[in-house]
This record gives sequence, C-alpha cells and structure tokens, in this order.
Amino acid sequence: MGLILGVETSCDETAAAVVEDGRRVLSSIVSSQAAVHAPYGGVVPELASRHHIENICPVIEAALTTAGIALADLEAVAVTQGPGLVGSLLVGVQAAKAIALVHRHPLVPVHHVAGHVASAFLAHGEIPLPALALVVSGGHTSLYEVPEEGVQRLLGRTRDDAAGEAYDKVAKLLGLGYPGGPIIDRLSEGANERAVEFRIARIKDGSSDFSFSGLKTAVLLHVRREEIAPAEGPDDVPGEIRDLVASFQRAVVAALVRGLTRGAEAHRPRSLILTGGVAANSRLRRDAAAAAAELGLPLFVPPLSLTTDNAAMIAAAGFVSFCRGERAGWDLNAEPHLPLG
Ligand code: KG4
Ligand code: ZN
Repeated sequence: MGLILGVETSCDETAAAVVEDGRRVLSSIVSSQAAVHAPYGGVVPELASRHHIENICPVIEAALTTAGIALADLEAVAVTQGPGLVGSLLVGVQAAKAIALVHRHPLVPVHHVAGHVASAFLAHGEIPLPALALVVSGGHTSLYEVPEEGVQRLLGRTRDDAAGEAYDKVAKLLGLGYPGGPIIDRLSEGANERAVEFRIARIKDGSSDFSFSGLKTAVLLHVRREEIAPAEGPDDVPGEIRDLVASFQRAVVAALVRGLTRGAEAHRPRSLILTGGVAANSRLRRDAAAAAAELGLPLFVPPLSLTTDNAAMIAAAGFVSFCRGERAGWDLNAEPHLPLG
C-alpha cells in the first residue's frame, strides 16, 4: 500500500492529502485564504505565510484523520518545493521535512505544475500518451508534452501574465472582488461578449508562447476611454461591465484554445489535458471540448476540486517520483522559481 502524504503551500491554499498508489484519494483537505486576501485584490505574501503557519498542523491532522491513518502508516511524504511564494513554500517544506525525519519516511520533492498535470491522471486513470497538457492557473500558463506519466516537456509558456493573473487583475480594476476568475466567469453568463473587440496577442516567432498583459492593458484603456466607474463588489454589476468582462473572457479563452489546437497540430498527441485553476472556467471547458472534438482527440479535465490548488495532486505526482526513486535530502529548500521541463 503506497500511502503518500501530500503537502501544498505554494500560494494561498494550505493543503494536505493522503493518496494511495497515486490513484485513490483517501483525503484532501484545502484551507483557502481567499477571504484574507480579498480586501487587497490579490495575494499578500506576508499574510499568506503567516496563515500557512497557523493552518499547516490542523490541515495535516485533518488529512490523516479523514484518511483514517497515522503518520507511521505512510510510505513517503511529498511536498511542493516550488515554484511559488518563498515564505509560503517554506512552511510546507519544513512541515514535510519534520514529519519525514521523525517517522523516517522518504521525502519526495514535487514541482507544483507537475502536480497540476498529475491531477488529470489522478482523476482519470490511464490517459493515452503522449498527451498535450495545458496548465492554466493564477501563476502559470504553460503547454507541455507529456510522453509518459510524470514527465513534462515544456513547449510554450506565457511571456508575461498568467491567464488567471489577468482575470484577477481585470476583476480588481473593475471593483469586482477576488479571486477574479470565478466572478468574471459568472458575470459573463448571458452578457454580450462581442461588445468590445479585443485582439488576441500574436507571438511572432512561431513559438507556442502566450501573452496576456496586452489584453489587460487594453481593458484598462477601454475603461479610461469610456470613463467606466468600477463596481462595488461582485453583486449588482452594471451591464456595461458585464459585457466588458465577457469580451475579455472571450479573448482569453480564444488565446488558450488556439494555443492548445496549434500545439496539437504541431505535436500530434493522442490526448489533451486541461488543468489548473482557470480550467474551472465554463467557457474554457466548453471551447476546449469543442476543439478536442474537432481534432478527434479525447480531452481530460479533472473535477474542480482537483484543478484548483490541492495536495492530492502533489501526493499523486509524488508517488510517481517516489516509484522512480527520487528523494530529497534534509537540505531540501523552497525554490520560488523552480523550472519544469
Ligand atoms: O491553480 P490555482 O488554484 O492556483 C495557482 O496555482 O495559481 O488557480 C487560481 C487561479 C486564480 O487566478 C483564479 O482567478 C482562477 O484560477 N480561476 C478561474 C476560475 N476559477 C478560478 N479563472 C477563470 N474562470 C474560473 N471559473
Ligand atoms: Zn496551482
């Protein structure tokens, strides 16, 4: 029985999970700090680390209790080493180290984005390989080729803002609240997404990279030009703002789906994976499914509880690394800019 404890504290979620053999989730506890950061319209790193320190022990204890196991029953402890906020990462790394050291368990380092990709295998089991994985979150927008489970080859990434970051910044600009993605997703329903014609950034060197900062600036310029006053929260939002965010969302989703389609045409995968917090987006899910059907490829999108930050995905990725013999020493350090592939 390969019971892995996963620990995730890279951003503003304190999470712990127990996963068996990289496939069966026995528990997955996520303590969100969204309410803490909401008044600031984004994550405040200092506040995030402080809340991780307060939450980490209760969250790990809850994960063990829910799974009905003790620390001694574990095969290994997997922890997000990076990328992320250094102060936040450190809390998880130190907690995982302490548990592994005291109970003499192997310590397995996990790349946060490899965790997002692993969530698709965790949710869907076998996936035809090679797969093409689009990871879209608040911190990342990257396209990977996945030749085998646990191996990611980077094909393209955002050159500036991540797609989720653009959602959050536009929501902040328009006074809609935090996190912006789900709010804009909801407000866009039934709004006129053709109200403003935003152009999708074209990366000229033929690479598979993305860019979202121009779009964010275009929204800002539109707001100034049309003298649009920000809303007072996510409720009772004027039609003009709903149409604006729907138009913004249409452009973001078009850019993401175009990247996925072009990647598939160039690399001929046997399946597609869509994951990360922004994969919760209803429009993206719909359009990616249509693009996959057009390409004749199966599309794997994990359920919402696994696409946004969680520790089950870290345990799942950790299990694959564990089986490959990857181990961290007691000198394991948080790596805020850890690269992948
Ligand atoms: O993966 P995640 O939980 O954390 C990071 O690793 O960043 O992703 C969080 C991001 C936030 O930017 C949030 O606004 C975005 O995912 N998000 C969404 C939706 N739900 C969450 N973006 C668009 N539509 C959604 N429904
Ligand atoms: Zn994430």
